[in-house]
Amino acid sequence: MTAVRPDIAPKQAPEATRFPTGFVWGAATAAYQVEGAAAEDGRTPSIWDTFSRTPGKVRNGDTGDIAADHYHLYRDDVALMKRLGLKAYRFSISWSRVQPTGRGPAVERGLDFYRKLVDELLEAGITPVATLYHWDLPQELEDAGGWPQRVTSDRFADYAAIMAGALGDRVGTWTTFNEPWCSAFLGYGSGVHAPGRTEPASALRAAHHLNLAHGRAIEVLRGQLPAAAQTSVTLNLHQVRPLTASAADADAARRIDAVGNRIFTGPMLRGEYPEDLIADTRHLVDWSTLVHDGDLAAISGPIDVLGVNYYTPTLVSTPEKGAGSTRDDGHGASDYSPWPGSEHVAFHLSEGKQRTAMNWAIDPDGLYNLLMDTSRDHPEVPLMVTENGAAFDDYVSPEGRVEDPERIAYLHGHLDAVQRAVADGADVRGYFLWSLMDNFEWAYGYSKRFGTVYVDYASQRRIPKASAHWYADVIRRHALPPTGPS
Ligand code: FCB
Repeated sequence: MTAVRPDIAPKQAPEATRFPTGFVWGAATAAYQVEGAAAEDGRTPSIWDTFSRTPGKVRNGDTGDIAADHYHLYRDDVALMKRLGLKAYRFSISWSRVQPTGRGPAVERGLDFYRKLVDELLEAGITPVATLYHWDLPQELEDAGGWPQRVTSDRFADYAAIMAGALGDRVGTWTTFNEPWCSAFLGYGSGVHAPGRTEPASALRAAHHLNLAHGRAIEVLRGQLPAAAQTSVTLNLHQVRPLTASAADADAARRIDAVGNRIFTGPMLRGEYPEDLIADTRHLVDWSTLVHDGDLAAISGPIDVLGVNYYTPTLVSTPEKGAGSTRDDGHGASDYSPWPGSEHVAFHLSEGKQRTAMNWAIDPDGLYNLLMDTSRDHPEVPLMVTENGAAFDDYVSPEGRVEDPERIAYLHGHLDAVQRAVADGADVRGYFLWSLMDNFEWAYGYSKRFGTVYVDYASQRRIPKASAHWYADVIRRHALPPTGPS
């Protein structure tokens, strides 16, 4: 055998590992964060309109009234997506735009917006992925009690039927909820999200009714959509890690895993609430009356894809280990806990990691572990990364460019983690970058920029950041580009 002399060996980089055939490349947004047109064409307020108008709730008093004006600029936005080579667009539907009071007949003008958006996407060769609920409950339904009331899940099933009827012929992938954990526990527990209630028992009740609404909607969608349609839900599964190897910290991690993750994956994917969750929270709710006969069967109807959103891991301990501990778990500071029954758990910022503008540690291994753990625990359901991305303090240079090398590094690291998980056996079908463009970042208003496209809110001009061009290159190659000096 002839050894190749290193000095004459070919200098070409090895062929980059390609993503699996059919792997979907997308970007995501949500209705209240981008649409604007808050009072147009019959739309009525959602809980986020009310919340953002309540003094002190959203930074700088920002609201989604105008946002990125996607409602009027959607054609330009789709054209931009096409130029970037995106294969899929994940958007959400504003419930109070299509069914203003959350009850009764739909408003055609509202439905028309989504019909036109979807047609535009299809025309551009971009697959629409519709989320029915990204946190914006019609205010009238909150006035009637909101998610802690069981009847809200009936309303949601009706709304799902309206949307399946309106878009079922042209949307192939449907997601019931985005991050129901946030709706239940930030909305009704810590109160940092709309509707801003701070009632631990109501938060748990909301979680069950969101689960029930999911199950009912899946049944409705299955009944109305063509057989090839895919149904899903998106969860922000917390990648929980104990601070130390102690039994007490392991218990803290178990508790946060229960009320952060398994409260959804248990009923949805196994048809049961975890016993430890029930034990941890039974002083707050009577699960035997909250959960009716038949609920768990309804909630656990099969789904085709599980969406996972990941930004940063969650490092926990018991309070005694509290040096450097914080009440801020990364979801926003509040005097009230979003962890009913486990309020004593302390949260930590992992040391030695770079951080985004949200102060979230950058940790791609968290995504790798999340995908591996989830596919090990639920091998029957394929995964889709439905959100991943980072906020940085982006600005436009005098030459009119937005350079965001930190975001490129973040995306590279996390896509590499996805690729490693796929190589190690996780069935991951695609990746959606959060977000297509800068938008209303909930309680942080417009102060945090997650977009790969910069939005100049004064002019509504869009400027693709360097990361948008980088992502377009990844999509073209269907592989990660080489890093470092070539
Ligand atoms: C997720 C939300 C999304 C966005 C990102 C940063 O929790 O689903 O709307 O705010 O965080």
